[in-house]
Amino acid sequence: MVDLIPESWYNVVPDLPEPLPPPMDPPGRNSSSIGLLNEIMPRAVLEHQFTVERWVRIPDEVRDAYANFGRPTPLLRAKKLEERMGTRARIYFKYEGALPTGSHKLNAALPQAYFAAAEGVEGVSTETGAGQWGAAVALASRFYGLQSTVFMVRSSYEQKRARRALMEMFGATVLPSPSDATSFGRSALASNPDSHGSLGGAMSEAIEHALERGWRYLVGSVLDVVLMYQSVIGLEALAQMEEIGEEPDVVIGCVGGGSNFAGFSYPFIGRRKGSKYIAVSSSEIKKFSKGLYAYDFPDSGGFLPMLKMITLGRNYVPPPIYSGGLRYHGLAPTLSLLVNDKIVQWMEFDEKEIFEAARLFASTQGIVPAPESAHAIRAVVQLAREAKEKKEKVNIAFNLSGHGLLDLSFYEKMMAVNS
Ligand SMILES: Cc1ncc(COP(=O)(O)O)c(C=O)c1O
Repeated sequence: MVDLIPESWYNVVPDLPEPLPPPMDPPGRNSSSIGLLNEIMPRAVLEHQFTVERWVRIPDEVRDAYANFGRPTPLLRAKKLEERMGTRARIYFKYEGALPTGSHKLNAALPQAYFAAAEGVEGVSTETGAGQWGAAVALASRFYGLQSTVFMVRSSYEQKRARRALMEMFGATVLPSPSDATSFGRSALASNPDSHGSLGGAMSEAIEHALERGWRYLVGSVLDVVLMYQSVIGLEALAQMEEIGEEPDVVIGCVGGGSNFAGFSYPFIGRRKGSKYIAVSSSEIKKFSKGLYAYDFPDSGGFLPMLKMITLGRNYVPPPIYSGGLRYHGLAPTLSLLVNDKIVQWMEFDEKEIFEAARLFASTQGIVPAPESAHAIRAVVQLAREAKEKKEKVNIAFNLSGHGLLDLSFYEKMMAVNS
């Protein structure tokens, strides 16, 4: 089993159809925000962020940690769902919910915590939306003997107490963002004391916190390096599909900052396996339908370098939908480029639509998906339905990025209004 865990991460950058627009310092500013990355990111992570190599070797210690926490994750076929729908589509899914923190996020937290610990720092900080990334950082940092502070978007901090408790069980300090622990948070609270918070704002707080303490800041999504660390998902899935003699026609994943979709799909895109790649987000956020492809800051505070990406604007405050992991204004630069070039297509669905899909999936496959992942399932259901109407045989593969066992309050609420 362990040898299914890849020996190298896959970096899509050399395989993009055109050069990736580089990160940029904001015009007219004296201090370099690209230079700031040197202070807050572990050195190896920063090197990986700017590498143009297609393959980057995974250190043995990180491969062992992946195995320790349950990689390779299973690739399963959703036969009961296919039967219930009466479709001729074959539906395969990679199950990242099998990891102990409940989602794919651990794949990127482990290497970053490992590289931070190797530098001898005492702790790390980060932001979290739904709490999935925060839980992954809490566990990974503890695994390598580091302290951690997690700034959790206030709406999630209040809604998702179980995930907060999970982070605290692993030993993290969890603060609601905006918080009064940073100057960015204090000024956000001064301008709106009832702010729900946003992922971009929590990012700014985590960066400030790391800078003050000489800690390292761990990045949960968006940056190329995070997408590369997540490629273990797709590389394993490729090998697992090859083992059973199958290839996907359609590859699907949900999108917050883009690391889940990219981690699963880029190895397929790089190997030209599949003919359709669909990134799925929320129609309450409208990143794809309303976003612009332009240089913008990944964090609301404007600390980090500007990236060319599909964005709703760094000051966009998303509505407090339950899928906290999708409440982000931007989209990873490589994925933005692929969407802009129409190599990757997109879909958006609302909470009612994803709830129906989640209920169908849970009642057939027995897995309650995270609401974020239910966006991907909703797209799968649509494609499987189309295959049924057209009497087409099509292989659909999607990443079930996380389980929803800590999201049952969302499902409880949705069942109450939609029964
Ligand atoms: C279960 C789950 N799926 C998907 C996502 C979206 O993440 P990404 O930023 O990797 O696109 C998240 C984000 O927190 C998540 O928790």
